[in-house]
Amino acid sequence: MKKVIAYNRVEKPVLEELERIYDIRFFKNVDTKNDPEFLEHLSESEGIIGLELPVDAELLDNAPNLKIISNVSVGYNNLDLEEMTKRNIMATNTPGVLTDTVADAVFGILIATARRIPELDHFVKNGEWKTEAIENEHFGNNVHHKTLGIIGMGRIGKAIAQRGHFGFDMNILYHSRSRKHDAEERFAAEYRTLDGLLEESDFVCVITPLTPETEGLIGKREFKLMKKSAIFINGSRGNTVVEQDLIEALKDGEITAAGLDVFEKEPIDPDNPLLYMKNVVTTPHIGSSTHETELKMSELAAKNLKSGLNGEKPANLVNPETCKDKS
Ligand code: GLV
Ligand code: GLV
Repeated sequence: MKKVIAYNRVEKPVLEELERIYDIRFFKNVDTKNDPEFLEHLSESEGIIGLELPVDAELLDNAPNLKIISNVSVGYNNLDLEEMTKRNIMATNTPGVLTDTVADAVFGILIATARRIPELDHFVKNGEWKTEAIENEHFGNNVHHKTLGIIGMGRIGKAIAQRGHFGFDMNILYHSRSRKHDAEERFAAEYRTLDGLLEESDFVCVITPLTPETEGLIGKREFKLMKKSAIFINGSRGNTVVEQDLIEALKDGEITAAGLDVFEKEPIDPDNPLLYMKNVVTTPHIGSSTHETELKMSELAAKNLKSGLNGEKPANLVNPETCKDKS
């Protein structure tokens, strides 16, 4: 039986199915550089399936038999693709199956932030809703008919645009590496330069993958360009934003509020100032995490793993250079 590592998250029925085919060991948040059991299994493993395993040259040096790493996520910023490709190790992800789920989460966070739902929930549950009427200090901001600026118009960006356009009559602006004519036609989305989008949007939503080009994309200068009334939403990766600059923009009133599913450091440090700001809504990187979608992601990742280990080209290969000879 081929040895495989499952890391952090593979849904149970899928793991059980894989256990019938492979000698599979499950590890969760281990010290991947020093854990002796992990290193021993790694040295013999041909495949890895899982969530957010940090993969660099050192890990790959310890995995001489590895053929494929199958991420149970659409993002693959945890993988050093260059090192993997150099060693002819395949990398796969799970696009498509989570698109609407992430878009729902981003939109939910957007509404929760604009209408201050978590804060007002605490207010009610803490017994602070007395006889007097709700005051101006509890009011939120409209979502409908506002301008939504989407940075990164991939599948998820488009699903967010769809919700904004059809559900909430929002004006959609977008910034992307390339023009997306389908989004322009379907959602009346208008292309803007990054600066133009930041200046005009009521909601600035980042949903671009984390790459060397998008790391630190939004920082001090960008927050200054936004409206003071702007609400900032991050559903991508923490490092697309300079978190310290976000904290300062919120403190200095450069923007009004933020809704964040992702952070520079996850889990977030308990003393992070973002946790003590009333105008910040947080969720623990759960954009794709519904019962239905996590199962679909695990199933798709397992399919990719099996293709790769069977010597076929996996459907969701992200470094095609490794399969040049396969169709
Ligand atoms: C979630 O963040 C993913 O990349 O799938
Ligand atoms: C993810 O599927 C994306 O392309 O945004």
